[in-house]
Parts: sequence; C-alpha cells; structure tokens
Amino acid sequence: MTSSLQNGSTHEDSGRDGPAAPFPAGFRWGAATAAYQIEGAAAEDGRGPSVWDTFCRTPGRVLGGDTGDVAVDHYHRFREDVALMAELGLTAYRFSVSWPRVHPDGRGGRGAGVNEAGLDFYRRLVDELLAAGVEPWPTLYHWDLPQPLEDAGGWPERDTAHRFADYAADVHAALGDRVRHWTTVNEPWCAAFLGYASGEHAPGRVDPEGALRAAHHLLLGHGLAVEAMRARRPANRFGAAVNLYAVSPQTGADADLDAARRVDGLQNRFFLGPLLEGRYPADVLADLEPYGFAPPDADLAAIRRPLDHLGVNYYSRHTVAGTPGEAAQAASSPFNTRSPWVGSENVRFVPAGLPVTGMGWEIDERGLYEVLTRLHREYPAVPLYITENGAGYDEAPGDGAVHDAGRIAYLDAHLRACRDAISEGVPLRGYFTWSLLDNFEWAWGYSKRFGLVHVDYATQRRTLKDSARWYARVIRRGGPG
Ligand code: FCB
Repeated sequence: MTSSLQNGSTHEDSGRDGPAAPFPAGFRWGAATAAYQIEGAAAEDGRGPSVWDTFCRTPGRVLGGDTGDVAVDHYHRFREDVALMAELGLTAYRFSVSWPRVHPDGRGGRGAGVNEAGLDFYRRLVDELLAAGVEPWPTLYHWDLPQPLEDAGGWPERDTAHRFADYAADVHAALGDRVRHWTTVNEPWCAAFLGYASGEHAPGRVDPEGALRAAHHLLLGHGLAVEAMRARRPANRFGAAVNLYAVSPQTGADADLDAARRVDGLQNRFFLGPLLEGRYPADVLADLEPYGFAPPDADLAAIRRPLDHLGVNYYSRHTVAGTPGEAAQAASSPFNTRSPWVGSENVRFVPAGLPVTGMGWEIDERGLYEVLTRLHREYPAVPLYITENGAGYDEAPGDGAVHDAGRIAYLDAHLRACRDAISEGVPLRGYFTWSLLDNFEWAWGYSKRFGLVHVDYATQRRTLKDSARWYARVIRRGGPG
C-alpha cells in the first residue's frame, strides 16, 4: 500500500508517520456496511422476506429494477472481506444484523422463533473479525423490517417496537459475550420519513401521520432494546445512529429562518430530544399538531435510556428557504411521491453553490464540525462516533484500479473537520467511513458507488480503490496529514 495520495498531496508511506494529534489513542478507525446492501443470499438458511425484498420487486421503485438478492455476496465472501479490513488496518467494523435472518416471521424472543442458522452467520462473522483484530460493531436495524411485521402494520404500529426489543435481546444473547458496542437503530429519520411519508424507501407508503408514529416507535424500539440488552450485560455499550445535518437558512428573512428551524426540528431535534432529554421539542410538537402527533409521556421515559454513545451519520448540509403558501414541494429525488418533511412541505431546499458528489449532495465539511461542536455544547456528556461519512460517485463498473481522488478529498476534509472538533474538546471516539464496499444503494440500486473497495458486480471481484490505500495510510498515521 504505497500509492501516493491522489488529491495533490505527496505524503510518502513510511509506515511510521509522525503523530497526527489530536486523534486520541484508542480512536476507532472503521468502515460501515449494512446487511441488505451487501449480504445477498436472500433466501438462504431460513431467512425470511424483508420490506426491501418486496419493495425491490415492485416495478418503478428501484432504479434499474435492482435487488439485494445477490448484492456483493458478502454472506459467502465475508472471510475475504474481513481479510481486506485487516489489510487496511481497520480497528473496527460496523455492520448490521438482518432481522429477517434471525426472526424470519418477525416474532420471537427468549429464543422462541429464532432461526439459529441465521444467527450462526453473525457468530461466524464476529469470530472472524475478532481473530483478525477488528472490533465488531453491530447495528440491529438498518431498514430491513421483516415483511410479516409490515403486513401487521409496520413501524406505525406500536407492537413493532416490542418485536424489535425481542429480536435485539435474541441477537444480544448470541453475541453479547464477544461484542461490546451495540447500535440499535440506524437513521430513524430515513426509516420513518422516507419509508412512510415520501415513499422513496421501503415499504413505500405515503402516510404522513403513519410516518410520525413510525418515527416514535423506532425511538421506542431503541429504548426497549437498550433496556433488554443492558439488563443482560450492563458492561456492554449501547447507542443509536442518527443522521444529522447542519441546517442553514438561505437568507435572514423570517420565512427562511422559520424553514431552517422546522428542518432542524424534524431532521435533528426530533430524535436528539427524546434520546438525550426525554422530550420532543415543543416547537416541533406544535408544527406537528395538525397530524395528531401526541406520543404518551410514559414512552419518553422508555426512550431516554442513558446512552453510552451517540452515532452520527453525516453527509451534507441542508440550506433551506421558506415559501409560505406554495404547494407541497416536488420530489427531492426522482423517486419521491411526496415530501418527507411532514408538516413543513412548503420548505424549499436550495443549493449553496458548493461542489457536489455523484449523489448531488453538496460537500460541506464545516457542517460536520458544526454538528459535532453543537452536540458537545448541548449534550456535553455523550461520547460521539461518526458512524457514517462518505461520498458516492458513478464510477466505472468494470474491474481494475479506481483513481477516486474526489472521495479521498471528501474524506480528508471531513477527517480534518473531526480533528478540529476534537481539538476543541469534542469527545469524538471513532470514525466509520461509508462504505467498506460498493453496494446496493437503496432506491438508486447499484448505480452509485460509495466503497473504499471496488466490486465488479459481474464477477464479485474486489479491488482496492486509491481511497482504500489512502485510508490505510491515515490509520497508520493516526489521522489525516
Ligand atoms: C445512509 C444510509 C446508508 C447509505 C448511505 C449512503 O443514509 O444509512 O445505508 O445508503 O446513506
């Protein structure tokens, strides 16, 4: 791994690069993936169907009609993939456990309804990681709800939160002796509002009231799962991963300031408030009153379990303008059937004029710095991890080298923002880039690639991109140059 940096810098890889303070000792250097996006083996070893299997089979929902049936075949190639992680020097790996592999019918608890063959896959994966010196960081819910639970009402139904806690307890019973750090839910904003309000993600419903209930039950599921797991092993560490954005008004006009308040409210504070303070923000509740959103107080106590860490997924900033009186905004992506911004449909998202990735997402590393320093200001006691950060591009499908200078520049800038935040006392303890491997990018199918490692989908051959070699060097140095 001696290739030089692609972003114009010329650090040589001496293997003993100087200190890159202030990334603290023990900082986790990781990469992230999710079950449905990489595993494939959709019908193997007793796995049940998930909402994403159904969604992918619904015409027009996923670009190119792509599915996760095979994905990057990680289910069969995990040993090769763990060897790649070790080669890169990752110290931790964030993956998700597939709920429909463990509870194919969506129901279980205390061992009942458990598909042991499904759990065995994660036992093998965890053993392989530990043997390679890579710490396993499982996430329990990365969007693959068992289809039978959706048929029974999905996340808008309260019962789903209890089913999630049962599932979490069964996974924890199998792996809790070897896995210390647990993440409950990934990006509940996406699961609720893209899944149930805009319909861009599975299960593809357009039901704003249901989306709000879904968001609440995802939070409740988190709290119940933490309670169940912590009771078994108090020494384990528990957190959730939320997708946070820096939010700016386009101008200082009142309508724009109100738009920024609303979007910050629904994207960030809707989740941080319950998780860390045990309450929804009053202004957000007022915005949502017309939707009948009135969660029981007792749930808030269940949601606010002391968090051992908070996972932050950060990609970009929202710059917004208020457009009072305008009709509901058109899609923010080609797939939306309506706005995911329940109660704030007249907010417009405007470009700030920054360069974009292949997803069209503006590159704004100062936004990450803002998010981290704000969290520290508002919730000083909570250790933070970046659980996702990365850049997707339309890279060539074929085999061979990938000179992904854009991704290197993106990651480098964001790691520098992390370093600035740490210098100011932010307790950032680790960084997981999205993603280890090219994979199934939800409604975009295989058209967008986020991996450090290129995958030729025809042959499943893995090839390190330049960014992978660069990241290995960052890890050895203990930080960016
Ligand atoms: C996040 C998801 C992750 C991946 C990245 C690009 O919202 O958690 O699965 O799709 O975006």
